[in-house]
Amino acid sequence: MSFEPLTEKGIPLEKQIRYWEQIAQKPYNKSEIDCYTRTRQILMNGIEIEAWGFKHLFSRLCPDINDCKVVSNIRRIEDTQQTTINWLAPSDQTVLDTTLGYEQVAVDLTAWLAQNEPDEYVRETFNFGLLEDFDHLYRYSQWINMLEGKCPNSILQEQTDVFLGRPTQHHHNENYLRIRNPYDKNETKPQTKVNILTLLSAEQQTHNYYAEHGFNYANKILRETYAEIKDVEEEHVTMYESLIDPTESIYEKLLLHEFTEVCNYYTCYEDEVDDRIKGIWEMFLDFEIEHLKIASELFKKYENRDPEEVIGHKVIIPCRFKSQKYHVEHTLRNEIDKRLGDECTFSYAQKSDLPSDWASYRVQEKFAKFGSPTEETIALTQYFCGRNIVFASDKLKEDELKLLEKGLQSEAAAGNTVTPDCLEAMIESFEEMQERKEQD
Ligand SMILES: [Fe+2]
Ligand SMILES: [Fe+2]
Ligand SMILES: [Fe+2]
Ligand SMILES: [Fe+2]
Repeated sequence: MSFEPLTEKGIPLEKQIRYWEQIAQKPYNKSEIDCYTRTRQILMNGIEIEAWGFKHLFSRLCPDINDCKVVSNIRRIEDTQQTTINWLAPSDQTVLDTTLGYEQVAVDLTAWLAQNEPDEYVRETFNFGLLEDFDHLYRYSQWINMLEGKCPNSILQEQTDVFLGRPTQHHHNENYLRIRNPYDKNETKPQTKVNILTLLSAEQQTHNYYAEHGFNYANKILRETYAEIKDVEEEHVTMYESLIDPTESIYEKLLLHEFTEVCNYYTCYEDEVDDRIKGIWEMFLDFEIEHLKIASELFKKYENRDPEEVIGHKVIIPCRFKSQKYHVEHTLRNEIDKRLGDECTFSYAQKSDLPSDWASYRVQEKFAKFGSPTEETIALTQYFCGRNIVFASDKLKEDELKLLEKGLQSEAAAGNTVTPDCLEAMIESFEEMQERKEQD
């Protein structure tokens, strides 16, 4: 990889202000767009939201008025970049369409990161979150079929499986249990820092999307499903942000934010198959090179260190989107029964090893008192489609009941849990019905 961001030539900040028609561009066609162009668009929107939000935090914490002025000028550009990217989504893309896109980002991005993460503990955390977003995708996929009559592959394009993961009702924890052990800023590789910031940005925006759109549906159970999954995304933000060393100064964090933007735009530009959108990634990469230069100068001034000590000198690849079915299946088979472990060691545990006073049971029992909407989702599929909708390899489908058994907890489970016996009965009655129809 020869791209060295600190030596590249960017576009001066004053030339980054664009006309309104350049800011609010023509949307893509939702039936023609490649699913991974959509995931890039969703991810980069999340990256820009984080870039904008962090710079507001910077201004609230920075006592130097001149630095605040510099950062405010970059922040306006981040905001216009966000508009351009987010508004590429067309108005006929429904909230559920977009939701499937968000969970496809979560699954395929997290799976890529887990396989390209040098730190073993961070890798384990990525794989832990992966199986939760994989289950969210399965639950929302039922809804797009039940409510809008669509196949989930109208969005996923068969690149990502639709199959149960760690059951969503078991993702609810005492939030402090989600807090992980942070990396040491002096020991950790730039790849790890960029990986975490990339995923954190995606998860934060997923949370925000559900917060802003879950109420767009009138269906009571779907609204509650959004509320339940949104709560898990809040836990994901808690989990991923806690991996970051809190002793990094705001200047070091600014440097890492701009570097993360550079790395992501660089990767998007390399991978993009849509010529028009590729042009946007290229232009924004040039914008970010300039932001990185400014952040580097501020960092040098305050830390009296070379920025390369933090970000190295080469670009990093954080977001190569491609199908991750093999990695997801492998992780699912091995880790569906994993849970958050002891709060003092920031560890993980098998569900069979959890103590009877495990802190998350209290939260799960409370949430489950009148049932879990994400379990109700699967029960409802019997009325709408005959059975739950699944897209996976035959081998994985054969093990559906076995994996459900392995993933479910008997403790603190909702009264409306779709157990392996319930699901087996549902599938058998669906198959009998199909046979009868064929004989008619
Ligand atoms: Fe940006
Ligand atoms: Fe999710
Ligand atoms: Fe998530
Ligand atoms: Fe930036």
